[in-house]
Amino acid sequence: MTGRKGIILAGGSGTRLYPITLGLSKQLLPIHNKPMIYYPLSVLMLAGIRDIAVITTPQDQDQFRRMLGDGGQWGISLTYIVQPSPDGLAQAYLLAEDFLDGTPSAMILGDNLFFGHGLSRLLQEADEAAGGTVFGYHVADPERYGVVEFDAAGAPVRIIEKPERPPSPYAVTGLYFLDGSAPERARAVRPSARGELEITSLLESYLGDGRLDVQRMGRGYAWLDTGTHASLLDAGNFVRTLEERQGLQTGSPDEIAYLQCWIDDDDLRARAALFGKNAYGRYLLGLL
Ligand code: DAU
Repeated sequence: MTGRKGIILAGGSGTRLYPITLGLSKQLLPIHNKPMIYYPLSVLMLAGIRDIAVITTPQDQDQFRRMLGDGGQWGISLTYIVQPSPDGLAQAYLLAEDFLDGTPSAMILGDNLFFGHGLSRLLQEADEAAGGTVFGYHVADPERYGVVEFDAAGAPVRIIEKPERPPSPYAVTGLYFLDGSAPERARAVRPSARGELEITSLLESYLGDGRLDVQRMGRGYAWLDTGTHASLLDAGNFVRTLEERQGLQTGSPDEIAYLQCWIDDDDLRARAALFGKNAYGRYLLGLL
């Protein structure tokens, strides 16, 4: 445990999912049986992080508050921060500077889903590492992401945002473990050609100082995208297939809070009661 704080970046306009997101934040859409944001929240909780800021658009903040509350039901603390306009991922560190107060952080994009055996250990290692850690994931379409260029020895030399000719098939996932210098470094980032404070520019700052570790997330992990109507449905089907086969939930903050001993039997029973007699409520009762 390093006192690392968490950030969930859940703003953005969600235009690619119009008309669904015309009146509703993308990160509140359902992925099978849970709101999308439960999945990245679960990842931070698996990493042992209990102090988390949720960054949203001004108009969506109330809905996020209604959905997640102050986090007390999971033994965590949630702070809400507004991003007035979607000016880039690196801006999150400027907006969250007071919240972070010099501590290291783990930022996750509110639309990123991770699943895999050994994820907790991977997260713990990143938590304990100095500098920054990001995860490279082999994808079929790297040109859609930030992409890592490796040298002959396999060390990362560059990270390029949406390159026309990707130097490798390794995309940088939307999960960033950075040390306490992230806000200061973010201040030096200038807007890109598309007018955004790019996360890749911030990562380049770490890379330039030899302070960035790129951990490859092997093929035993699933990193799912929810950027298009089709991938949104695919992610929901993935979760449904897995949960129905295993009889286990994935991305349940209630279960993780209970297993982390951040809430007790009575707390879990109270949460289960909230869900009435549906399958999620029954599952939580079954954990007792
Ligand atoms: O998903 C991983 C990729 O995320 C990385 O590989 C890229 O390096 C990184 O730039 C980012 O690429 P995207 O094209 O997916 O970024 P997008 O603009 O779609 O934003 C990702 C999420 O963050 C999206 O759910 C909306 C939210 N967002 C985005 C921006 C630009 C914000 O909350 N605020 C913002 O200012």
